[in-house]
This record gives sequence, C-alpha cells and structure tokens, in this order.
Amino acid sequence: MRIVYYPDPVLLKKAETVVKPPANLDEVVEGMRRVMALEKGIGLAAPQVGLSIRMILVNEGNKPETEKILLNPEIVKFYGKKEWGEEGCLSFPNIWGEVLRYTNIDIDYQDLELKKQTMSATGLAARVLQHEIDHLNGILFVTRMRPGDKESNKQRLKELRENYEALKAV
Ligand code: CO
Repeated sequence: MRIVYYPDPVLLKKAETVVKPPANLDEVVEGMRRVMALEKGIGLAAPQVGLSIRMILVNEGNKPETEKILLNPEIVKFYGKKEWGEEGCLSFPNIWGEVLRYTNIDIDYQDLELKKQTMSATGLAARVLQHEIDHLNGILFVTRMRPGDKESNKQRLKELRENYEALKAV
C-alpha cells in the first residue's frame, strides 16, 4: 500500500459505498494506519491509497485514543462558524493553503462492524473530517483553497502533474 498522488484519477472520482466490509478489512485498516504514521498525516481517505471506497481514518491527536475509522461518513449538520485554516494533503506533497471550513459538524457513519453511529466534531477534528470526507466525493482541497494560496502553489501543482505523467510513461 502506498500513497496515490495528485492528479491520479482515483482521487477525482466519487468512492463506492461500503455495503459489506472487504474480506481484507483488517489489512486495509492496518495498511492505512502505517501509511498515515509513516507520512506523519492526521487524516487519510481510502482513495488516497488507491481504494475507491468510502472509508476514512483520522487521528488529529496522533494518539491511539483519538483515532477514528469511519465507513460511509455523511455530514448531516454544519454549524458554528466558518473559519480559514491551513491544510495540507498527503496526496499533494509540499502544498499548503488556507481552506474555509465549518467549526462544528455532526456525522452519521458506520463502524468497522457496519453498525450505525453518530459523532460530533469541532475545531481541528471537524476540519480534518471535512477534508477527508471531501476526498470520498472526489473533491480536493486545492479547489477550496483561498485564491491567493492557489496562485502561489500553481508551479508546484504543475510539477505534480508533470511527475504523474512522467511516471505513467515509464
Ligand atoms: Co487530503
């Protein structure tokens, strides 16, 4: 398992609903954990490791007790206020920019046994969850980035697209 980089098409499409857990679910979870730890991320969506399924791993506190694994997450309520905050993405190495997100969200999701659950999140956890759930809908943070930040990352984005094409040609 490895990180998939922009502009790989798997990052741009809507991921499939998980109706029954994949047979190798434990392996997928463990692989995603390892990739995220290795890359020092605080959130990872399955499409970022090439799996087009609605599954995310978040751990904004970087401790076992702050880890959450969500299947089929849906944000059912956005509230609080909207705030700009800096984000990066493991699929966009060395790209950073401010994105406007809600401070509070409520989510319906299913756990690893496919049992229905709900949760609320605020602050950084809410930001990470919004970013990762966007991935499941093929929405990348650069499209939501403050225009000035998008402009300052333009060259780097072009390099990522060129790298992708170059690797495809090998
Ligand atoms: Co991301």
